[in-house]
Amino acid sequence: MRLGLLTGGGDAPGLNAVIRAIVKSAAARGAECIGIEDGFAGLIDAAHWRQLTLSDLPGILRRGGTILGTANRRNPLKDPAPSGAIVDRGAQCIQTFHDLGLTALIVIGGDATLAIAHEVSRRGLPVVGVPKTIDNDIAGTAQTVGFDTAVSFATEAIDRLHTTAEAHHRIMVVEVMGRYAGWIALHSGIAGGADIILMPEIPYDVDKVAQRILARERSGARFSIVVAAEGARPVGGTLTVQEAGSAAVAERLGGVGARIAGELERLTQKEARSVLLGHLQRGGTPTSVDRLLATRFGARATELALDRHYGVMVGSRPPELIAVSLAEIAGRPRLVPLDSDLIHAAREIGIGFGD
Ligand code: F6P
Repeated sequence: MRLGLLTGGGDAPGLNAVIRAIVKSAAARGAECIGIEDGFAGLIDAAHWRQLTLSDLPGILRRGGTILGTANRRNPLKDPAPSGAIVDRGAQCIQTFHDLGLTALIVIGGDATLAIAHEVSRRGLPVVGVPKTIDNDIAGTAQTVGFDTAVSFATEAIDRLHTTAEAHHRIMVVEVMGRYAGWIALHSGIAGGADIILMPEIPYDVDKVAQRILARERSGARFSIVVAAEGARPVGGTLTVQEAGSAAVAERLGGVGARIAGELERLTQKEARSVLLGHLQRGGTPTSVDRLLATRFGARATELALDRHYGVMVGSRPPELIAVSLAEIAGRPRLVPLDSDLIHAAREIGIGFGD
């Protein structure tokens, strides 16, 4: 049997650990692995693939990024032609799959890549999905590969910002990733001891954020830390967009932290600074939690593919791993539930959400 594997969408720490687990467990069962380069783009152009063997694996468990490369601004089902027309190249991808003599395709991706995986699976391709994204917003799994590393990094950044905020009696606004869901903001905000957390699920009122900061001031706390997800937006307001999207790709978010810092400075008359953690959250070595999840997901995805159990994604439902239908999860971001015990605990200890 010949397994194809690809990594698509934004990179996430732990992708190489998934690749390693797939290649090792496939080899143990006598199957070959073909690595498709740069996500689905490698299936469109046909030439971008290479055989993966055990000799490709030393050292990659702890390496960030992906040895296969990835692409998150190219969707094979909505590919812009030089004429400007949007072309569906799904049939070309399926043809390349057959030309390479593949038995099944393991797709390691986030929401957009898994939606593509679902569509090509619907058109007959034997596919198994593995969920990765630092945003942690994939339905059907309690956790995605990369999330823990991003939270650990953001927590450390918030820790560091505490001391300088305190020294200068300032407001520090830390912008973290999270397009549709506030998982990184919520987890790192609580772990880092933030005073206010702003996330897509709870539209904020900047006056309420300012009032909370001024109340802290009156009680003697002369600095405040605000953690804002990039997808946070004011009540009745819009997202802060850095680059508009198109029919083929989603808009790029970014800048909400700077916007909030400016507004808070005006409303509180206190100095405010914003820090955008950006792609630092996606870089570097994966934590042990991500390495473990990646290894479990990779080994299980290989088993599913070799057992011809297709059209599914591996998911975590502690303490077990499950296989969920791609149809069930595609196009449905997993948001933080408003009745989550973490939001409850945060409110109990006095963290504000701007509502
Ligand atoms: O989906 C993961 C993510 O890191 C989002 O949080 C963020 O909006 C996006 O990717 C950024 O992507 P890019 O690498 O295109 O800037």
